[in-house]
Amino acid sequence: MSVPRFADFERILFFTGAGLSAESGIPTYRGKGGVWSEYDYEDYACQRAFDRDPDKVWDFHDKRRGAVGKCEPNDGHRIIAEVQKSKKGASVVTQNIDGLHQRSGATDVVELHGSLWRVRCDRDGLVRDDASVPMSPRKHDCGAYWRPDIVWFEDSLDERVLERAHRLLAACDLLVSVGTSGVVYPAADLPRIAMRNGAVSVEINLDDTPVSALYQHQLRGTASDLLRAMSL
Ligand code: APR
Repeated sequence: MSVPRFADFERILFFTGAGLSAESGIPTYRGKGGVWSEYDYEDYACQRAFDRDPDKVWDFHDKRRGAVGKCEPNDGHRIIAEVQKSKKGASVVTQNIDGLHQRSGATDVVELHGSLWRVRCDRDGLVRDDASVPMSPRKHDCGAYWRPDIVWFEDSLDERVLERAHRLLAACDLLVSVGTSGVVYPAADLPRIAMRNGAVSVEINLDDTPVSALYQHQLRGTASDLLRAMSL
């Protein structure tokens, strides 16, 4: 298994998913013990569910905020933050909503799917940071509920966030996908931008995924072990 080294590249882009945070004790979404094997997203993580029963959706998200809030960044997050510090051109585009990239010192993190630690007024769209557990008050002064500022199923991604991700992916010379199953679109399509622009592509995962064949290097193992190996 030939392992590309960060030292040989200038503009590195980390494209991360739930597998990066698994070693911090945060369950992934799919596979054994995945969030969606315990909860049906149609009842807890889409606007229709929220319109139907906002308190039930908030109870689920408060549980997640409580669990995730107790988790710490792992070596994988720290190595990515270190690479960003040593290489001005390194960037992070994440599908994760846990905020662990930022807590490990990464900067300018592009959060494709929003954040567990931001809320948005369901009526006027006002957004604010909020790390309270349980999140309170659940209603904005205008009378509408705050909702988690997370891209739920059937939500569209924020155009400005997508544009920023596109720019970064088109400019990188090394794309490192870390811990994503590659099954949720449009995020799963983004790595192709980097590949089309000639970046060397690396997939870090425990297992093969439906998009593994796109990658020049398919490294199998944990995120922290393989990111460490790329740092040598
Ligand atoms: N190291 C590396 N990879 C790992 C590890 C680990 N320690 N543990 C798990 N993985 C891999 C799994 O093999 C799987 O391919 O991480 C991937 C996790 O896949 P998902 O649970 O589907 O997470 P993700 O790809 O981030 O999901 C994308 O789906 O539910 C939506 O919006 C949600 O952002 C999420 C999106």
